[in-house]
Amino acid sequence: MSPSFLSVILSGSALLGAVNAQAYNAVGRAEEAFSHIQPVNTTILTEHGSSPPVYPSPKTTGRGWKMGLEKAKAFVAQLTIEEKADMVTGQAGPCVGNIVAIPRLGFPGLCLQDGPLAIRVADYASVFSSGVSVGATWDKAVMYERGQAMGEEFKAKGAQVMLGPVAGPLGRSAYAGRNWEGFSSDPYLSGIAMELTITAAQDAGVQACAKHWVGNEQETQRNPIYGTDDTTATVQNAVSSNIDDRTMHELYMWPFANAVKAGAASLMCSYQRINGSYGCQNSKSQNGLLKGELGFQGYVMSDWGATHTGVAAIEAGLDMDMPGGLGSYGQNFGIPSYFGGNVTLAANNGSLDMSRIDDMVIRIMTPYFELGQDQGFPSVDPSTADLNSFSPRSTWTREYNLTGEVSRDVRGNHGELIRRHGAAGSVLLKNVDRALPLKAPRNIAIFGNDAADPLRSSVLNQNNYEYGTILAGGGSGTGQFSYFITPLRAIQDRAAQDGAIVQFVLNNTLIASSNVSALVLPQRVPDVCIVMLKTWAEEAADRDHLASDWDGDGVVESVASYCNNTVVITHSAGINTLPWSDHPNVTAILAAHFPGQESGHSLVDILYGDVSPSGHLPYTIAMNGTDYNALPTTGINTTGYDDWQSWFDEKLEIDYRYFDLQNISVRYEFGFGLSYTTFEISDIQASPLESNITSMPEDLPIQPGGNPALWESLYNVTVSVSNTGDVAGAAVPQLYVGLPSSAPAGTPIRQLRGFEKVYLEKGESQTVSFELMRRDLSYWDIVSQQWVIPTGEFNVWVGHSSRDLKVQERFTVVGQ
Ligand SMILES: *[C@@H]1O[C@H](CO)[C@@H](O)[C@H](O)[C@H]1NC(C)=O
Ligand SMILES: *[C@@H]1O[C@H](CO)[C@@H](O)[C@H](O)[C@H]1NC(C)=O
Ligand SMILES: *[C@@H]1O[C@H](CO)[C@@H](O)[C@H](O)[C@H]1NC(C)=O
Ligand SMILES: *[C@@H]1O[C@H](CO)[C@@H](O)[C@H](O)[C@H]1NC(C)=O
Ligand SMILES: *[C@@H]1O[C@H](CO)[C@@H](O)[C@H](O)[C@H]1NC(C)=O
Ligand SMILES: *[C@@H]1O[C@H](CO)[C@@H](O)[C@H](O)[C@H]1NC(C)=O
Ligand SMILES: *[C@@H]1O[C@H](CO)[C@@H](O)[C@H](O)[C@H]1NC(C)=O
Ligand SMILES: *[C@@H]1O[C@H](CO)[C@@H](O)[C@H](O)[C@H]1NC(C)=O
Ligand SMILES: *[C@@H]1O[C@H](CO)[C@@H](O)[C@H](O)[C@H]1NC(C)=O
Ligand SMILES: *[C@@H]1O[C@H](CO)[C@@H](O)[C@H](O)[C@H]1NC(C)=O
Ligand SMILES: *[C@@H]1O[C@H](CO)[C@@H](O)[C@H](O)[C@H]1NC(C)=O
Ligand SMILES: *[C@@H]1O[C@H](CO)[C@@H](O)[C@H](O)[C@H]1NC(C)=O
Repeated sequence: MSPSFLSVILSGSALLGAVNAQAYNAVGRAEEAFSHIQPVNTTILTEHGSSPPVYPSPKTTGRGWKMGLEKAKAFVAQLTIEEKADMVTGQAGPCVGNIVAIPRLGFPGLCLQDGPLAIRVADYASVFSSGVSVGATWDKAVMYERGQAMGEEFKAKGAQVMLGPVAGPLGRSAYAGRNWEGFSSDPYLSGIAMELTITAAQDAGVQACAKHWVGNEQETQRNPIYGTDDTTATVQNAVSSNIDDRTMHELYMWPFANAVKAGAASLMCSYQRINGSYGCQNSKSQNGLLKGELGFQGYVMSDWGATHTGVAAIEAGLDMDMPGGLGSYGQNFGIPSYFGGNVTLAANNGSLDMSRIDDMVIRIMTPYFELGQDQGFPSVDPSTADLNSFSPRSTWTREYNLTGEVSRDVRGNHGELIRRHGAAGSVLLKNVDRALPLKAPRNIAIFGNDAADPLRSSVLNQNNYEYGTILAGGGSGTGQFSYFITPLRAIQDRAAQDGAIVQFVLNNTLIASSNVSALVLPQRVPDVCIVMLKTWAEEAADRDHLASDWDGDGVVESVASYCNNTVVITHSAGINTLPWSDHPNVTAILAAHFPGQESGHSLVDILYGDVSPSGHLPYTIAMNGTDYNALPTTGINTTGYDDWQSWFDEKLEIDYRYFDLQNISVRYEFGFGLSYTTFEISDIQASPLESNITSMPEDLPIQPGGNPALWESLYNVTVSVSNTGDVAGAAVPQLYVGLPSSAPAGTPIRQLRGFEKVYLEKGESQTVSFELMRRDLSYWDIVSQQWVIPTGEFNVWVGHSSRDLKVQERFTVVGQ
């Protein structure tokens, strides 16, 4: 991005307060191109801001992608306008998203596949642990290894583009239905996981698509309500995420900045509106924040059906319309598209500049060439066409040559790593008197409907199945299981080594309503009672409650009243309130999240002590579901066109930032997690890596990720970590920064700015160092539109969680 362009953006936002009319015009400009979307209600926007105009859409300079850029320019020079229109418009076809081939140029087209934890529309593919499980590992090696293995599977199946990973939703609300697809409600942890997943997948030769940009924090009313034809006429707008500038930078943009820095090929714009303007036609978010401030060089694709305009969306920065048709999920394929033929018409009638269309195609093709996808990429596995219920063959209007081996097995040895990752993402929350690991128990009882197989394997990806273990959530972010290991099966296999009896009761209603002694052999209370609970969450629906499903709390109470060694395991989308956590007979609690296909094995490895638990919570478990702030906006019963407004008035106060600022007790704090061993953290030291550090970053030319000065390491903090227990294990020292009191009001007390996973043998010690970058020590200053390091004294803590801080250091960064 040229500095002069950047200054246009900056003055645009700086003007916002003073010249609101201009901002409304810009929103109006985007909206008015479509007769079916009414003008934005300016009364509402006067109260809560608007989206300022940022035009034109910045052109890519291919920074970091020189080879790809040159090839992409040569490619676009050979295209007709019809071919260019094809390049930016999805079509019904074998994959979830399809860009058609241009055979005369040897371009095989693009196959885009869901999603963040597996190649979903596929057979003989792996289902990996979900985002929340990966976040809970706090393990950079796991993040990379999983991203790479997923990339290998997408490539072997012929998918050039992997629709993941997810940093939106971030997890503003505990109740949001898709939080489990992402890694953590903390932007730093999420950002590292984004960066490593993207780097790894792209190292494997597949384009990553970071989604959903931005402010996509709830499912309720994420899309507009359409009229009866489900295509064009909207009768009520989608919810608007109204986010102030500082919160946008410090929370919701933050992990996407890491994604752009990692060279993400694409970003997916989101369904909901941002400050009143739809995510895929919002010039401030796409042209301004993403392509301008963050220097994004790839392409923006729409979420499925999130495009609501043609020319206006294109001018606002959208580069690819997916899946290409009109309607709520864009699935009404055929002639109608806001892009497609309309791009040709708009180019021919002069309302759309050809240079913008060329830039769209160049942005799409640069990563394709840069990743070497023109060098013998595998063909699309023909089996995907038969499995694809989204655009079945009957909907295809274009030609596809489906060649190559059918039903390729792409799983390799990934089951082994999925087993490890599932265990690494399990968080031990309670372990009284070393209830775990189990010591060769010979009388085991297992309770709960999460323990065993479902009645049909096909219900795994669906809501409301009562019987059967849960391994992943629902919607586009799920996976197609080729096999899976249930907890019951794995425990039976393992217990057989000890010649144990394994009894089980799967009916939650029965357990919760019975005297449990009547449900198992009555002679003797089992050595251990394992309770398996599950909690579903899915795309397109927010969670109604944070309890375990199917009266899981009642199941625990019932079992614990009978069994003095009750071990509770949760398989869950994330946050569960655990009201029975202090029950004296509940001796251990393990939050096993959504571990993927090796679930039972991952669990047994921990239960029997082959693996010491090392997961830590990537969110806070409050005392009560009513303690969380930032609830999704629901229950709007009025039918006004613009009535769905979600004010992010809590600003930075989400999850632990809120509980800490308000001094609210929680059940298990952010970052908490036990091990089978114990660790000590000592000897903190902090030293500057540069002298004479300025408050403002040097104004360097924008690179992917933004001003490179923000990514420069300014401080080095070291601590010593020791394993003081009697078994090997992995510690997660976490570094939190507290900004000086000169930072603006609303600054969190402390924020995660570093973590490492450190494997230590019994008695071993290691020095662990954390580099603090400029961004880590700054707040976003809305006046100067810069990341600013405040003057005064910083606090830095390193500990085992956000509330178990072991060592502290103070230093002043600026003005030394
Ligand atoms: C705009 O919103 C305001 C505040 O909610 C409401 O009173 C007014 O009726 C709306 N105007 C239109 C034209 O919908
Ligand atoms: C949203 O509105 C706020 C408040 O006016 C403004 O600071 C911010 O830049 C806007 N963001 C976008 C993406 O429009
Ligand atoms: C152009 O877009 C309109 C919706 O605005 C749609 O009805 C029409 O079918 C599109 N034309 C083509 C050629 O796709
Ligand atoms: C040009 O074509 C586009 C796309 O069909 C249409 O929206 C626009 O109204 C046309 N403009 C003129 C001046 O005809
Ligand atoms: C399909 O293959 C045929 C024969 O090789 C070729 O003529 C045609 O262009 C191909 N079509 C596509 C879409 O690749
Ligand atoms: C589960 O137990 C309840 C309560 O006893 C009973 O009504 C229900 O039929 C049982 N379900 C099955 C599948 O047996
Ligand atoms: C704990 O379990 C024992 C049986 O082992 C039972 O007698 C006792 O009542 C239980 N305690 C509670 C608080 O339910
Ligand atoms: C449970 O109760 C039995 C029988 O009283 C006792 O032997 C055992 O130690 C108790 N277990 C725990 C974990 O308290
Ligand atoms: C949670 O809070 C609500 C509202 O204050 C209250 O009714 C409920 O009893 C609380 N639940 C628990 C488990 O404390
Ligand atoms: C909307 O209706 C629901 C169900 O009738 C009710 O619980 C809720 O309070 C209503 N919301 C508002 C804002 O009136
Ligand atoms: C630190 O920076 C200030 C302002 O740029 C400059 O005047 C001073 O000489 C610098 N000091 C050192 C030690 O580099
Ligand atoms: C930070 O300090 C550690 C321990 O002294 C050292 O090993 C490491 O190289 C330092 N990092 C940098 C960037 O200087």
